[in-house]
Amino acid sequence: MKDQWIMGIETSCDETAVAIIKNGREIAANVVASQIESHKRFGGVVPEIASRHHVEQITLVLEEALEKAGITYSDLSAIAVTEGPGLVGALLIGVNAAKAVAFAHDIPLVGVHHIAGHIYANRLVEEMEFPLLSLVVSGGHTELVYMEEHGHFEVIGETRDDAAGEAYDKVARTLNLPYPGGPHIDRLAHEGNPSIQLPRAWLEEGSYDFSFSGLKSAVINAVHNAEQRGEKIVPEDLAASFQESVIDVLVTKTERAVEEYQVKQLLLAGGVAANKGLRAALEKKFGNKADIELIIPPLSLCTDNAAMIAAAGSVLFEKGQFASLDLNANPGLDI
Ligand code: KG4
Ligand code: ZN
Repeated sequence: MKDQWIMGIETSCDETAVAIIKNGREIAANVVASQIESHKRFGGVVPEIASRHHVEQITLVLEEALEKAGITYSDLSAIAVTEGPGLVGALLIGVNAAKAVAFAHDIPLVGVHHIAGHIYANRLVEEMEFPLLSLVVSGGHTELVYMEEHGHFEVIGETRDDAAGEAYDKVARTLNLPYPGGPHIDRLAHEGNPSIQLPRAWLEEGSYDFSFSGLKSAVINAVHNAEQRGEKIVPEDLAASFQESVIDVLVTKTERAVEEYQVKQLLLAGGVAANKGLRAALEKKFGNKADIELIIPPLSLCTDNAAMIAAAGSVLFEKGQFASLDLNANPGLDI
């Protein structure tokens, strides 16, 4: 049988990424041009700058991916692109590049939801088995997603305010750590003791929703109160206490959902999936259970990349779910 080659394009935020996946699960190329250095001095992603970088990078990244995979456009079975959610100006660069390639080379186009992509990063590690539950924790999303089959996503819980990654980044800023702050807090947390009392938002009984803004505010208040008293807070201890609170809520709610939904697999997805503390806590809870398989992607597939978009696109391609050439960027796209 002829090999299936899917190209993925991801430009929803601050990474210009192109990847090529062979037969649904094999990474032939995975190129990511990060813009983090350009946004760092602003303490967060500046949409205008992001769009400009995507325009400058996209052609180079497309060519590099093809070269790495050792194929040409004519070998591609389909081209998959993140259509949303994300920054509209950033998304548009990827969507227009994908449409241009699809039109010029007469290749089917597939639109992918960014979070579906994060979830499908797991299929590059292990074949999916349904029903499954995915804990999605990124800079813009915190969700528990239940899946009974490919391409169908049921959000059983989501954040009511800040996403987990957003809380990490804001806490990091309070501690004067560079953007993105998640990895810095993670590192500090391992050097500290979780000795500071911080809240945990469990919400109503039975709810799978999350809330991190109260926790974020409690951290900011703890820093300000210490400053006012002329005391110095130990950043390592604050990071450890914050991280413990986040992980406690994430893991406890996930465990309850795993039991209620009787899933065969638990998948971890999104940038915060790179967190060492969270990975270890999930391994400890689910790693040795016979009735559930825990899948955690390698770090490079947790943060934004296009291999995950191609992996999700491969499934949509097989289902015949193509997009037309009037596909548009949709910054508020629902999963
Ligand atoms: O998925 P992602 O790359 O972009 C979005 O779709 O949002 O996630 C980025 C987020 C940032 O908030 C970043 O601080 C966080 O993931 N992050 C981490 C770690 N590595 C990245 N958060 C906690 N611990 C980490 N090790
Ligand atoms: Zn993402």
